[in-house]
Amino acid sequence: MNPTTNIAIRAARQAGNVIMRSFSRLDSLTVSEKQVNDYVSEVDRNAEQAIIEVLRKSFPGHSILAEESGAHGKGDYQWIVDPLDGTTNYLHGFPQFAISIALMHRGRLEVAVIYDPLRDEMFTADRGGGALLNDRRLRVTDQKGLKGALLGTGIPFRDQRYMDAYLGMLKALTRDTAGIRRPGSAALDFAYVAAGRLDGFWELGLSIWDFAAGALLVEEAGGAVSDIGGGSRHLETGNVICANVRLHKEMVNSIRPHLPADLSA
Ligand code: IPD
Ligand code: CA
Ligand code: CA
Repeated sequence: MNPTTNIAIRAARQAGNVIMRSFSRLDSLTVSEKQVNDYVSEVDRNAEQAIIEVLRKSFPGHSILAEESGAHGKGDYQWIVDPLDGTTNYLHGFPQFAISIALMHRGRLEVAVIYDPLRDEMFTADRGGGALLNDRRLRVTDQKGLKGALLGTGIPFRDQRYMDAYLGMLKALTRDTAGIRRPGSAALDFAYVAAGRLDGFWELGLSIWDFAAGALLVEEAGGAVSDIGGGSRHLETGNVICANVRLHKEMVNSIRPHLPADLSA
């Protein structure tokens, strides 16, 4: 494995220790609301510090963009860190959350690590080197179309601007598939598409740290990732669809009639 990926794995494990240490004493955590329906605790911040410490020590010339503390340093290599993806789940003891770490070089994703500390599942990918779950190679499903597919999604909970458009998409895809799940950690949703546990996933309004690692994982597992309209600006817009290539096309076609003009690619 790429030595850079090994450092990111070490950073994710450190954060995992911080997160799991507090999982049995959730009632004693101090929680604040960053914006409407967007919560943060000292666990998010401490896990982020643990990751930054490991990355800084090994890569002093790299920059870091981390959800809770923002941008650190300058450089062509940038780490993109979500120390706890699925904070709302975590704070309720709902067992679906993860650490997400990606490395970007001049806008191109190179390394991805998503770690589920509860199940000790380490999802990793290097550009050109495939995607792994622990030591097992990952591949997206070969689901041929919407009929029979299991999809993941995220329901808008902060920004309600596109709620009606979203509900149109949800209605169409609920009607045409075997079912929809809203597990609550976008990073794990992408990892599950890469691992073939979900056939596809879509969400509006993500931040880059929610899915930078996930996007590379899905691509390296043979899947397609795009903007909600089928274009390639998903890392900028945060409106995203992923699946195997064939299903991805069908999802884009099914969602298109519900897209507001400003979200079309
Ligand atoms: C959230 C999760 C959730 C998604 C939200 C994200 P956070 O991340 O990924 O599944 O629906 O859009 O903000 O805030 O728990 O790191
Ligand atoms: Ca997140
Ligand atoms: Ca987070």
